[in-house]
Amino acid sequence: MEITRRDGLAMLAGLAVTGCQTANVGTATATTSTAAAGPLGSRSTPSGFVSLQSLAAAKGMRFGSCFAWGEPGADRGSFANPAYADLLRRECGLLVGENEMKWQSIRPGPTSFDFRRFDAMMAWADANALPVRGHNLLWHQPKWMPRWEEAYDFGARPAREAERLLVEHVTTVCQRYGTRIRSYDVVNEAVNPADGSLYQTALSRALGGPEPTIDLAFRTAKVAAPHAQLVYNDYMSWEPGNANHRAGVLKLLEGFRTRGVPVDALGVQSHIVTQGVDAQGAVRALEGDWRRFLDTVTAMGFALVITELDVRDNGLPGDVVARDTAVAAYTRGYLDVMLDYPSVRDIVAWGMTDRYSWIEGFEPRADGARRRPCPYDDRFAAKPMRDAIASALSAAPARR
Ligand code: G3I
Repeated sequence: MEITRRDGLAMLAGLAVTGCQTANVGTATATTSTAAAGPLGSRSTPSGFVSLQSLAAAKGMRFGSCFAWGEPGADRGSFANPAYADLLRRECGLLVGENEMKWQSIRPGPTSFDFRRFDAMMAWADANALPVRGHNLLWHQPKWMPRWEEAYDFGARPAREAERLLVEHVTTVCQRYGTRIRSYDVVNEAVNPADGSLYQTALSRALGGPEPTIDLAFRTAKVAAPHAQLVYNDYMSWEPGNANHRAGVLKLLEGFRTRGVPVDALGVQSHIVTQGVDAQGAVRALEGDWRRFLDTVTAMGFALVITELDVRDNGLPGDVVARDTAVAAYTRGYLDVMLDYPSVRDIVAWGMTDRYSWIEGFEPRADGARRRPCPYDDRFAAKPMRDAIASALSAAPARR
């Protein structure tokens, strides 16, 4: 893993603080919990502030977040939103485009690409020395492919046309960004959580099935981006009810190894869901099966990437203090397990503030209280979840 100048400086800062934190956790907690508290757009960083990236870098890891495109000043999680841009620069050492590299964003038609938004995001990231992960080269579900794909006429030789279409897409994206992107979610969420089977799309029906389609995406990415970490990304999680999903992912990963498909890591999205107010009790109940799953994955030689961390505050009262406390404890418990795995080097949050989280639109709380899934609240003030991430990073074993 190359250490950039930015990381080197961050590591020095982090090491200095880690020493302090080892000496006096109380002060460290105070230090980290003063992080970026303040109203929207506050550009000041309190003295003594230690970023999540600095804490991660001190252990050979990176902390980051997704980010979005937006019109200048738009009130969304965009680089063009000064308050959000400040937060990304202050806390992150890695970014990932939330939507703008997806087929639905860059493929208006079968013979066209539109990279304008993602190019603008990459330019901003480059200007701020922030590396970017690529998400994703194929979200293999009908509803997440462009409308034209499901209606596409693959002609007299459908398998050849489907291969051409997929190879052209993966190659075009990878060659456009070259070594600026060093990790790709090559395939996203191809496993049906209900029964562990693989989704079909018009593309895979034409090409001869989901496995050859998924394999071709990885083999093409390996040729087009030989420098990059190639990741299979999915949201199988540790909460009850995910056994079929985990089993389906394990079967897919075993198949990659059997067929010699170049896959380097499993992206563990980590959209975790609280199980009530007893966070520690939930962690104890969930940890065993989850470690068995992670042990099986890593025993096959796959690294792990935390790709989309956020917390759905289910089974918790509306009271903000009680909810934030339980979310923080659950986050800490989850990360303590995940960071026990030395191959975890990148931890990416799916957004830095509650204000722009996808969850509010996806699954609003029954009591109508706004979701609180991210490290910062909707006024850009740090929350206990942010301190929980900081503490987990500080407690994590250093990566060699
Ligand atoms: O950009 C268009 C806009 O022009 C249009 O007016 C508007 C209304 O139709 O839609 C906008 O696109 C939306 C896009 O988010 C940007 O806001 C899409 O409809 C909407 O489906 C899309 O939702 C995203 C979702 O993935 C589906 O792509 C969420 O923001 C994003 O957080 C979510 O992220 C996924 C990961 O990619 C994979 N893992 C799960 C995670 C959460 O679902």
